[in-house]
Amino acid sequence: MKQFDLSAMGWDAFHALSVTEKASYFDLDGRPYNVIVAQQFDRARLEELGTLATAIRRVAKTEDGMAFLARQLPHKRAMLYFTQPSSRTFLSFTAACQILGMPVGEVRDTATSSEVKGESREDSVRTFSSYYDMLVMRENLGGLAEKMAWVFAHSDRPVPIINAGSGKDQHPTQALLDIYTLQRSFENRGGIDGKTIVFVGDLLRGRTVRSLAWLLANYRGVRQRFVAPPSLQVAPDILDLLKRAGVDYEVSDDFESAIPGADAIYMTRIQDEWDQPGQKPLANIERFSFRVEHLQRMRADAVLLHPFPRRQEIAVEVDRDPRAMYWRQMRNGMWIRAALIAEIFGRDQVIRDYRKT
Ligand code: NCD
Repeated sequence: MKQFDLSAMGWDAFHALSVTEKASYFDLDGRPYNVIVAQQFDRARLEELGTLATAIRRVAKTEDGMAFLARQLPHKRAMLYFTQPSSRTFLSFTAACQILGMPVGEVRDTATSSEVKGESREDSVRTFSSYYDMLVMRENLGGLAEKMAWVFAHSDRPVPIINAGSGKDQHPTQALLDIYTLQRSFENRGGIDGKTIVFVGDLLRGRTVRSLAWLLANYRGVRQRFVAPPSLQVAPDILDLLKRAGVDYEVSDDFESAIPGADAIYMTRIQDEWDQPGQKPLANIERFSFRVEHLQRMRADAVLLHPFPRRQEIAVEVDRDPRAMYWRQMRNGMWIRAALIAEIFGRDQVIRDYRKT
């Protein structure tokens, strides 16, 4: 048996592993293949992916470069299965595929698929692998992407799966674009090492924070501050992972005093789509909003991030400030996703070589 061979593992044994133990089973030959959890990415991978995203971004600036990129994967087709609402993740994956010349198919509503005829979600998803060479999926069920990666590995078409958001659990590619944004923002300040990152908002149900908190544990001396009302604080499983990784973290509900010490502030919206109908809101997060007057409390070289969509957590007037990074962050998502897909299909080296010519 190859080391970490998903196709040789039974479901129950695999399912029982911890998230860190599972991570290596999603790789193939030491590279990311299925991208399911943030735990698959160590520092070396994050740096490699960031430089590849930058190479793609630069190559894409010329017509010849764009034509070269579009010749990389025209022989592969991507399926985007998004049964939860999405604008940015869906469109940036579509654009990333288009950059690499990959044709794209989509299902965005189970009401238009055979699931309404009683087909199981697993059969539906497996059907996609009959026609496509890669599956990008967003789902409100945590764990389905992982299950499908296992199902595919046991089928005769083990096409790669990318998790584009699984329930309240993980959103690894958002965390990759967040890291890429931080890498670029701190390029002239010694990188991400030693920085203080402040997370604000609904940290209990915000999957982007859960994935990013883990990726940040790959860097030296990063301090993580989780600022939220107690009922929306980050879940104990994440704090436990951070504790075991020796990360300096702090939990608080005092937004105002967290601002001046931050190198990056990561705002999030309330995730009230998870509330039961008629349920009383878990908390009012109005005082966890970034207003114009907060700009002067913020360091001159700090950055403000948000995975978007936003509601009122960041005042629109803040957008004009050069430290407001969220629109650039969004565009970074397209480059990092193109880099990830190029890497999955082994096109990374040829793209790096093009840069050298
Ligand atoms: C996030 C998500 O879907 O988890 N959106 C995104 O992908 N940029 C954040 C959110 O919905 O609040």
